[in-house]
Amino acid sequence: MADQYARGRDGDGSRLPVLRWDETAEGPRLVLLDQTRLPGEETEAVCADVPAVVAAIRSLAVRGAPLLGITGAYGVALAAVRGDDVESAAVVLAGARPTAVNLGYGARLALAAYRAEAVHGAERAASAALAAARELHRGDAEASDRMAAHGLALLDELLPGDGYRVLTHCNTGALVSGGEGTAFAVALAAHRAGRLRRLWVDETRPLLQGARLTAWEAARSGMPYTLLTDNAAGSLFAAGEVDAVLIGADRIAADGAVANKVGSYPLAVLARYHHVPFIVVAPTTTVDPDTPDGAAIEVERRDADEVTRGTGGGRPVAPEGTEAYNPAFDVTPPELVTAIVTERGALSPVTGGGMAGLWDGTGPLGAG
Ligand code: MRU
Repeated sequence: MADQYARGRDGDGSRLPVLRWDETAEGPRLVLLDQTRLPGEETEAVCADVPAVVAAIRSLAVRGAPLLGITGAYGVALAAVRGDDVESAAVVLAGARPTAVNLGYGARLALAAYRAEAVHGAERAASAALAAARELHRGDAEASDRMAAHGLALLDELLPGDGYRVLTHCNTGALVSGGEGTAFAVALAAHRAGRLRRLWVDETRPLLQGARLTAWEAARSGMPYTLLTDNAAGSLFAAGEVDAVLIGADRIAADGAVANKVGSYPLAVLARYHHVPFIVVAPTTTVDPDTPDGAAIEVERRDADEVTRGTGGGRPVAPEGTEAYNPAFDVTPPELVTAIVTERGALSPVTGGGMAGLWDGTGPLGAG
C-alpha cells in the first residue's frame, strides 16, 4: 500500500504517494514525497538518476529504514533501466547512509535480481531489478499489517484494561513504509480498536521527525496525540502517564541490540526505571545477522548545522562556529528491550538465540 496518502484511508482525502515509479517520455523517474517539506508543503522530489536518489536519501527527503530499503531497490532498478553501471550504483546507494541496514539490503536484493537475469540481456535484467523493487515494496506493506496485528496483541497482553497511553519517538508511520509503518502502525491499530488513550509524540531533535511527521500522520488519522519536547519525557514517566514505549529500528544486531533515532536509548533507560514495557517494532529486513552486537553498528554522524541551526535554515540557535555532537542514532542494549515485534511475531525476552530464530525458522517466532 504504497500510497496511503493517495487513498486517504483514514484522513481527509487524497494525498501524494510516499514513493512511486513513473515511466515518462524522457525515461523512468523515482518520485518521492519530499519529507523535508512536511508538514507545511506536500511536494514531490523527482529523481531521474542515481545521484538524485542518493541526494534525496542524504537530505532525508526520503528516510526511515523500511522506505530506505525500498528506495535502494528502486534506485538500482533506475540505474538498470537507464543503462547505467548497475554494480557501482548499488554500491553508492547502499553507502548513502550507514546505519539503516535496509538500505543495503534493498540495493543488494535488486542487484541480485539483475545479475540473475544478466545472461538474458540488459533489458530483461533491468525488468528483473524493477520487479524485485516492486516486490520489496509490496512485501513491506504486508509486513506492516502483520506487525500491527502482532504488536496490538502484545499490548493487549501486557496491558490488560481499558486502553493505554503510548509514547513514540521519531517517525515510523506510512511515511517510512510500503504500508502503514512499524511502531506507528501498532499505535494506529490500537486506535482503530478503541484502545489507544493517547499517543505521546517526542518532537525528536534536531530534525523534528516527531513534530513534523508523526504529529502530521497522527492528526490525519484522527488519533488522540500530544507533542512533547524530548526533554519532557522523563517527567511524563514520573507522573505515571506512559504505559508503553513503541519505537522502530534502523538496525537490529544479532544479539538484539537496537539502533534507532538518537534519544531512543534514554527512553529505554527511563522505561526500565519506571517499569514500563519498551517495545521495538521492525520488519525482519531490519535485523542484521552480520552485525554481532550494538558496538558493531555504525552510527551516522550528521552536520553540526542541524543542531546549531535546526530545520528550515532558520536563525542560528548557537554562537557561530559552535561545535556540535550530532549522532543520528543511538543503540539500546537488548536487556533494556521488552520485546521485538516483527512480521513473524513478538520475541520476548530478547536473546541471541531468539534472534537467530528469526532467520532459521526454528526459533520462538515459528514460520510466521
Ligand atoms: O534519520 P531518519 O529519519 O531516517 O531516522 C528514522 C528512524 O530512526 C526511525 O525510527 C527508524 O528508521 C524506524 S522507521 C520504521
